[in-house]
Amino acid sequence: MSLDDVLARIDADLPAATDRLLDLLRIQSISTDPAYKAECDRAADWLVNDLQSLGIKTEKRTTPGHPMVVGHLDGDGPHLLFYGHYDVQPVDPLDLWDRDPFDPQIQDTDKGQVIRGRGASDDKGQLMTFVEACRAWKSVHGTLPCKLTFFLEGEEESGSPSLVPFMREHADELKSDLALICDTGLFASRVPAITTMLRGMLGEEITITGANKDLHSGMFGGPGINPIRVLSKIIASLHDDTGRITIPGFYDGVPEISDELRAQWEGLGFDADEFLGDVDLSTPAGEQGYTALEMIWSRPTCEVNGIDGGYTGDGFKTVLPAKANAKISFRLVGTQDPEAIRASFRKLVQDMLPPDCTVEFKDHSCAPASSTDTSDPAFAAALRALSDEWPDNAAYIGCGGSIPIAGLFQNILGTTPMLIGYGKDDDQIHSPNEKYDMESFHKGTRSWARVLHALTNNV
Ligand code: BES
Ligand code: ZN
Repeated sequence: MSLDDVLARIDADLPAATDRLLDLLRIQSISTDPAYKAECDRAADWLVNDLQSLGIKTEKRTTPGHPMVVGHLDGDGPHLLFYGHYDVQPVDPLDLWDRDPFDPQIQDTDKGQVIRGRGASDDKGQLMTFVEACRAWKSVHGTLPCKLTFFLEGEEESGSPSLVPFMREHADELKSDLALICDTGLFASRVPAITTMLRGMLGEEITITGANKDLHSGMFGGPGINPIRVLSKIIASLHDDTGRITIPGFYDGVPEISDELRAQWEGLGFDADEFLGDVDLSTPAGEQGYTALEMIWSRPTCEVNGIDGGYTGDGFKTVLPAKANAKISFRLVGTQDPEAIRASFRKLVQDMLPPDCTVEFKDHSCAPASSTDTSDPAFAAALRALSDEWPDNAAYIGCGGSIPIAGLFQNILGTTPMLIGYGKDDDQIHSPNEKYDMESFHKGTRSWARVLHALTNNV
C-alpha cells in the first residue's frame, strides 16, 4: 500500500470529510466573548470525540480560559506534533453576512466551490485538513507513520493567554521532533508555501476620561475638555508623514532584510496592484521606501482597530463625552520587545495628557515575532511534497499575521515549528462571509498526506 492509496482514500472520503467540517463549523466557539464559553467547550468536546474515533488517546484539559485538546498516538518514526486552533473570531458586523455565520454552507462561486461560515478558513477548516489526512492514512494502513501528538487551542484569536503556563507545565508531554502548524496561507492564493517569518503582536486598549459625566456640548463646550479630541491627537501623533511610528525606541530590534532575502521575495512575483486592487485599494499606505510585501512581512505597524466614545447611534446628539476609548495593535518584527514597546507607548500617552484628563490602560495580547530556521532537511522534503500536490512549486514566505505559539514552540520547548496552510487571500478571515475553498480543503488534506509521507521517509 502506498501514498497513492491514501490520496485515493482522501478523494473518496471528501463528502464525508466536508460533512464533519460543517458539523464543527456549527459550533459558535468565539473565544474572546465570555458569552460563548460553553460553545468553546463544545468545540473542544467535538474534537476530543473525533480524535478518539481515530484511536488517538485524547483529553480536554482545563485552563483558566478555554480548554486545550491534547491527544497522543504512540508509533514508530519521528515524533510529530500538530497544532491548530478551534476558536474563531466574533462575527460582527452581523448584518454584512449573507447568511448565518454558524449555519455553514457549500456554495458554488465563479472561482469554484467554497465552504462558507465563520472559522471555515481560520482555523477549523485548516485544522481538519490534518485530521482528515490522518484519518485516511489510518484507514488505509491501520496506523500512522509516526508518533503523533495533537495540541489544539481554544484561545488563539484572543491572544493565547493560557498558552505559556500550559506549555511550561506540560513541556515534557509536548516536546516533539517537529511541530506542524496549520494556520497560514498559500502564497498569493496559488503557490503552496511554508511560512518562515511571522510578525509578533501587541494589543493595547486606552480609555481617556475627562469630566465625571457626559455633558451638554453647548453648556460645557469650550472650557470642558473633550476626551475624543485628546484621543484623536494622540492617535494622530503615532505616525509621522513618512508612515514611520514615532514611539521612542519602537524601532529597536527591527532588522533591515538581507539583499538575499529581498531578492528571494522579488522572485516570488508578488503583484501588489492585484493584492490591493482586490479590496478596492491602490496605493501602499505604510512606511515610505518599502514595497507592499516588505510592509506586510518585514516591517512593524501600529493600527487603530476600534475607536469609541460619545454618541454613535442614529441621528445626532450634542454631547461632550466623558470618555473616549481606542483599541490599538502593533505588529512586531525581528527582536522588538513587546513589553518595552508597551511601556514606551504608555509613557507617550501619559505625556500627552492635558489637565483634567486621566487614562486607563488595558493590556491585551502580546507575542514577539518569530522566524524559523529551515536548515533541517525536513523542510526541503516538505517543500518537495507540497510542490507535488499543487501546480506551482512551493516557496518559503513570510506572513503579516501572528500565531503566538510559533515562537513559543521554539523558546519554551526547543521544537522547530513548520507552518503550512492553505488559506487564500480572499478567504475573508476575521471578516463577514469567511470562506474556505473546497480546493484548499481537499488539496490541503492531500498535501498533509504527502508531507507526512515525506517527513517519515526522509527525516
Ligand atoms: N490564522 C491567523 C494568522 C494569519 C493571519 C495567518 C493572516 C495568515 C494570514 C491567526 O488565527 C490570527 O488571526 N491570529 C491573530 C493573533 C492575535 C490575536 C494575537 C492575529 O494575527 O491577529
Ligand atoms: Zn488562525
